[in-house]
Amino acid sequence: MDSTDFYAADFEDDLKAAFLLNNPLKSQHGGDLVCGSCNGLTLLGMIINLTPLIMGLVIWNPFTRRYKKLPVCPVQTFPSYRGFMCFGLGYDSAHDDYKVVMISKADDSNQVWVFGLKSDFWRRSRDLEDEVTTSVGRFANGALYWICKSKCVGFNLKKEVFFDIPLLSDCGPASLFFNSFDALVVFGGNLFFPKLHDKTIEFYLVVSDVSDKGGEVVEGSWRKEFTVENVENISHDVFPLLPLAYSKDGGSILLLDSSGVFWYNLENKTNQRVIIAGLPDVPCSRYSVCWESLVSVGKDSAFDGAAEEGRIDDLEE
Ligand SMILES: *[C@@H]1O[C@H](CO)[C@@H](O)[C@H](O)[C@H]1NC(C)=O
Ligand SMILES: *[C@@H]1O[C@H](CO)[C@@H](O)[C@H](O)[C@H]1NC(C)=O
Repeated sequence: MDSTDFYAADFEDDLKAAFLLNNPLKSQHGGDLVCGSCNGLTLLGMIINLTPLIMGLVIWNPFTRRYKKLPVCPVQTFPSYRGFMCFGLGYDSAHDDYKVVMISKADDSNQVWVFGLKSDFWRRSRDLEDEVTTSVGRFANGALYWICKSKCVGFNLKKEVFFDIPLLSDCGPASLFFNSFDALVVFGGNLFFPKLHDKTIEFYLVVSDVSDKGGEVVEGSWRKEFTVENVENISHDVFPLLPLAYSKDGGSILLLDSSGVFWYNLENKTNQRVIIAGLPDVPCSRYSVCWESLVSVGKDSAFDGAAEEGRIDDLEE
C-alpha cells in the first residue's frame, strides 16, 4: 500500500498555498488511514494484521509535529475477528481529556472501547446495540457521532454513554449511507446531515444537548440551515458535499466536492472553484478543517521527522 501525503493550507480570508506535512507513518507498511480529528489532533490508523484484524493507532499533532503510538486495544486479540471497526477522536472538556473511541464488531457484539490520553489505557465501555455503518465518528459539542442501521448515535464523551438521534424522517433508509465516510459532517463546530435531491443539497443541523444528561435529542431536532442549489457541475456522487468554512462576511461557504474546493455564494447561488497552489496533480481524497493547536499528544511522544535522514530528535521529552 502506498502511503498518503498530507498537506495543510492556511485559511484566513482565503486559502493560502498548501505545504506538505510529515506523515509519521509514511515509512510504515499498511499505514495512514485517517480515523478522526479534533482540535488539531489527528488520529491515524494502520493495519498491523488482517485476520485477526489488528489496527495500530497514532495520535498526531502535525503542527507541533509530535505523535504518540497508542497501545493496541485488547479487543483486537479476538482470534475469530474479521469484521468492521470504527473509530473516533474527541475532546471531553469536563475532564480536559482527549479520548479515542473504538467500536468493534467482534463475535456478534459491538464492543466499545475508550482510550483516554490522560489515563493512557483502553477501558471497555457498554456494548452498542445497533451496528454502526459509518467508519469515522464525527466530533461536535462534546460527543462523537456515527450512523447506525436505523438511527444516528452520539457518544457522550464525558459520561461515556450512547444516546440516539432519529434519522431525518424522509431521508431514505440508513443503509443508503453504508460505509459512507461523510454521511455526517461537522461544520462550524456543529453536526450536519446533508440531504441530497436532484438539483439541491439541503444541510440539516442536529440540535443536541450533551451537557447534563446522557444526551438529549428530541424528535424534530434536525433544523434546515442552508441549501446549496445549482449543483449540476458539482461532483457529489461519490461523497456528499462537505462544507468547510464560511467566508468572513458570511455570504459564501467554502465547499468540498470530489474534484476539490469551491466557494458557493449563498445570495446569488453561484459557485467558483478555488485552485490551491502547492498541491500535487492527483486529486486529494480527503479534506478537513482544523484549528492549528499546540495540544499535547500526551506521554511517550515522538517527533514526526525522526525518520528524516540526519535529523536529530532534539524535541524528545
Ligand atoms: C455573486 O456574488 C459574488 C459576491 O458578491 C460576486 O463576486 C459574483 O460576481 C456574483 N455572481 C453573479 C453571477 O452575480
Ligand atoms: C460551474 O460552472 C461555472 C460556469 O462554467 C463555473 O464558473 C464554476 O466555477 C463551476 N463550478 C464548479 C464548482 O466547478
